[in-house]
Amino acid sequence: MAFIGTDEINKIRNSASIVDVISSYIILNQHGKNYFGVCPFHEDHSPSMSVSEEKQIYKCFSCGASGNVFTFIENFLNVSFAEAVQIVANMVGISISVDINKKSNPKYEKEYNLMNFVLKFYQNNLNTQEGSKAVSYLKERGLLENTIKDFEIGCSFDKNMLYNILNKKDYDDKLLNDLGLINKFDNKVSDVFQNRIMFPIHNLDGQVVGFTARCYLNNDNPKYLNTKETYLFKKGSILFNYHRAKEAIRLNKELIVVEGNMDAIRLYSVGIKNVIALMGTSLTKDQIEGLKKLKCKLILMLDNDNAGETATYNLGNMLEENNFNFQIVRLSGEKDPDEYIIKNGKEAMLENIKNAISYNEFKLNYFKRNKNLNDANDLAEYIKAVIEGLKNTNDAILREVTLQKLSNDYNISYAVLKSQLGEIKNINTKKIIVDEKSEIKKSSYEKICESILFYMMHSKDFIKLYQIKLGVFPLKKYRAIANEIVYYLDKYKTINIADFISYAENIDLKDEIMAIINSEDEIPLTDEGMLDLLENINKKIKQDEIKNLKNEVKNEVDVIKKRQLIAKMTEIKKELENI
Ligand code: CTP
Ligand code: MN
Repeated sequence: MAFIGTDEINKIRNSASIVDVISSYIILNQHGKNYFGVCPFHEDHSPSMSVSEEKQIYKCFSCGASGNVFTFIENFLNVSFAEAVQIVANMVGISISVDINKKSNPKYEKEYNLMNFVLKFYQNNLNTQEGSKAVSYLKERGLLENTIKDFEIGCSFDKNMLYNILNKKDYDDKLLNDLGLINKFDNKVSDVFQNRIMFPIHNLDGQVVGFTARCYLNNDNPKYLNTKETYLFKKGSILFNYHRAKEAIRLNKELIVVEGNMDAIRLYSVGIKNVIALMGTSLTKDQIEGLKKLKCKLILMLDNDNAGETATYNLGNMLEENNFNFQIVRLSGEKDPDEYIIKNGKEAMLENIKNAISYNEFKLNYFKRNKNLNDANDLAEYIKAVIEGLKNTNDAILREVTLQKLSNDYNISYAVLKSQLGEIKNINTKKIIVDEKSEIKKSSYEKICESILFYMMHSKDFIKLYQIKLGVFPLKKYRAIANEIVYYLDKYKTINIADFISYAENIDLKDEIMAIINSEDEIPLTDEGMLDLLENINKKIKQDEIKNLKNEVKNEVDVIKKRQLIAKMTEIKKELENI
């Protein structure tokens, strides 16, 4: 994340009206002091989101989404916090002193600059005479100049041309080797990529970290040569075209997932820009996290071969386990989305996307693979597989429809199917109950602590009351948050919830702080109300002390010590009565 100072962030936030900003994205109507609109962060049918001009925050009383003007933009447009600050700054006409587009991690600035230089070098090769064959190859594949530019495609030559140039620029061989640009054995150096079409690969933030390089002069092996795993290029956390797709899904909350980079490029080039490529057929945990961040529906559209079918099944299970909203497209005829578009055009592709099927429907077909359904054993296996496949579905209607369909198609008693599913479902429900139990419910004491913290974020006066009456939270997790609030006031001399939300963006406790804000209702609180809350905590502290002393008394054998403990306990009891 780019470093924009807190003062600057607060200045931008103060210059913006949250009502103006939010109403440029959704319709808001005024009722009393607040404004209301249909919440864009869940399936909302009536206006559940309230926006407060006074407090400069929004809150949905249905799904609990809440935050300030920046978090609204961040979530609505799927952008980073820094980008949201930039967008709001533009809206209010403030220019930011930090270039947020240059998201470089200062630690690797040199490396990123080098990768950019290499990218430009490969791109420029296309303009040279030797590059004409590569250009012809790209043209033959139907890639237009714009697409070549958009994807920053280039080409590499032999004779170690890259190394010779970088060597003259005094780059260390070790660095070039570490970044996967050259091979060095026994002091013999050679370019890793020779005579290939060069496609840059970006990390999720959009920085060039490596290349995937296709042979084009002859059928060299391998067809695609990728940058080796380096400290910038971590294949398991990269998705091809992610940084561009992130922009595209602002308008269309749907992301198409394909296998090959050429598939992604083809879809993009015909205007279907909400696409990423896996560069293979698997997904790592990091990649799943990356996809989750996009908060959109996925359309899985893998190659039209057996491997693509199996990968669809495996990835489908993975997406289901991770609670993604997703659908499947299986193309027919051509081998992959790239060739499908070349043969059938954009409209046919859009039609396929429109007719995407559920994962469950996909499985109904998938389980038929290699089975002869006229054979009793095969059929039984098939039916069991389908029912087993229903177990992760929470959609009761879908379960019902599938059972009915099986019953009708194969003339099997509906009751038998239902009982088979029932057995599986029971096992699942049991698991869920255990999970719920293991989740620790918040005590009323914890709730009070959270209310106190919530109101402390609102005003200096509440923080002062906290400092006088309590000073420190007994629970460690709340103490850390209180410390942040006190630190904030100390540093910036004033506090309001909207600015504190911006501040929370950059600290480790962000999730805990946002959880508190999300779960609290925005009810005005007087000083007396705050004092009541603080008293409650003090009472609880005393009650706990009494409880502990009681135990000590019980276990103490020395009579004098026992008496002392009892005296202490009586004193605390008195204090408790006086609170
Ligand atoms: N791939 C790879 N190494 C290979 C072959 C494939 O890394 N030797 C990756 C590439 O990222 C490729 C993806 O797997 O984009 C899908 O492979 P494939 O379907 O063979 O590639 P296509 O997209 O069809 O490539 P092209 O159209 O250029 O032949
Ligand atoms: Mn292909």
